[in-house]
Amino acid sequence: ISRRQLLAGVAASSALPAAAFAAPTRQFPKGFWWGASTSAYQVEGALDADGRGPDIWDAFTQAGRILDGTSARVACDHYHRYAEDVALMRAAGFNAYRFSLAWPRIVPAGTGAVNPKGLDFYDRLVDALLAAGIRPMACLYHWDLPQPLQDKGGWLGREMTGPFADYAALAVRRLGDRVKTWMMLNEPNVVAVFGHGLGEHAPGLRLGEDGILKALHHQNLAQGAGLRAARAERSDLMLGTVSNFSPCVADSGTDADRRAAALWDAVWNRVTLDGLFKGEVPALLAERMAAIVRPGDMELVRCPVDLLGLNYYSRNTMRHAPERPFAAGWGTPKTSRRTDMGWPVEPEGLYEQLLDLRDRYGNPPVFVAENGAAYDDVVEADGSVRDSKRARFLEDHVAQVHRALGAGADVRGYLAWSLLDNFEWAFGLSRRFGLVRVDFDSLKRTPKDSYRLMRRIALANGL
Ligand code: NOJ
Repeated sequence: ISRRQLLAGVAASSALPAAAFAAPTRQFPKGFWWGASTSAYQVEGALDADGRGPDIWDAFTQAGRILDGTSARVACDHYHRYAEDVALMRAAGFNAYRFSLAWPRIVPAGTGAVNPKGLDFYDRLVDALLAAGIRPMACLYHWDLPQPLQDKGGWLGREMTGPFADYAALAVRRLGDRVKTWMMLNEPNVVAVFGHGLGEHAPGLRLGEDGILKALHHQNLAQGAGLRAARAERSDLMLGTVSNFSPCVADSGTDADRRAAALWDAVWNRVTLDGLFKGEVPALLAERMAAIVRPGDMELVRCPVDLLGLNYYSRNTMRHAPERPFAAGWGTPKTSRRTDMGWPVEPEGLYEQLLDLRDRYGNPPVFVAENGAAYDDVVEADGSVRDSKRARFLEDHVAQVHRALGAGADVRGYLAWSLLDNFEWAFGLSRRFGLVRVDFDSLKRTPKDSYRLMRRIALANGL
């Protein structure tokens, strides 16, 4: 399908105003990546198919920890419907797609025997993406830890480093001839805080500060080892990692609130970024991490990357909360605009975050690996979904990316979260982030207005 045919298809769509085809006022650099992100556990379903092993989210679900009582057993059934989903991306004019590989499909026990059928699925997916002219961006770990590794302690131990590096090497060996962009981890800070500190995500541990810092440091180690293992397999790859970085601001001008924001910034942003780019432990955490970090660790953690993925949703407004880890709790953001996750809508925070990366870490090549909003969409009588709040959210954030580019930040792409409504972790199927609606009974896909907005942006390479 040519660009011309695509444009013709778009022009024929009644939902778009004619103005959509005027030259954009905010033009992006040539070759900018436009697309969407998903993750294996959230979209694939088919949890028992083709020799997949159990993982920590299966266990968390079985333990009754999903708020709406649903599971990811079927999710979007992307495992079987990937061709339809790739066609949707192609019709949107997307040139990039970030997805994750399911470790428990590929190495069902976490270490040892490889399951060829698991790899075959990603072969098919990657080939379909390439045929559609879409850059595959593979993420190795988006939270679906094989249960046998959890049984040995999971991210609480440094023993995870070897298995992760082996898995990274294996995946690159099989797919690296076609997948040139590889991300190691997704949001190690969320895994640490919500999975090991607060117990709201799998593996459901409530270990407070110590659990959070252990999980962060051991993911840092695995990430460094994974980057080196992937590099050793092939030299022609763009390698990096993804996290949820976010400006941390104090709820008020009190010293206590400012301390909470500074400490939270160290935990949320700096352990990962200072480790990766500088081989340093943030000074504010040095004492707390002294028993966790061993000699030589930080040399492994520090590793030059070709690309850094930024997931951005909102700022972190922090207040002094003595009962919480690091005495930091979420305060009250200034804006009253909220998504259905209760998260404040703060597009300028994305600009600030991109500038922070520019200024503190030598302006690395960055892409927005996720940005999006959950809203409870309404299906109109004619079947359409006019999700104007989500479209507005995306537009406002894309505008901030353009602003950051103007300020010299090295931004390479923008991927919306998510292509499809999917399994939103502890919220189950009850929160919709998709550009495309998924009816979880019929599995029918319906592109929303936000999808048409992203198509317009992608085709115009601007806004
Ligand atoms: C970031 C996570 O990577 C993704 O899995 C999740 O669905 C979105 N945030 C929304 O919460």
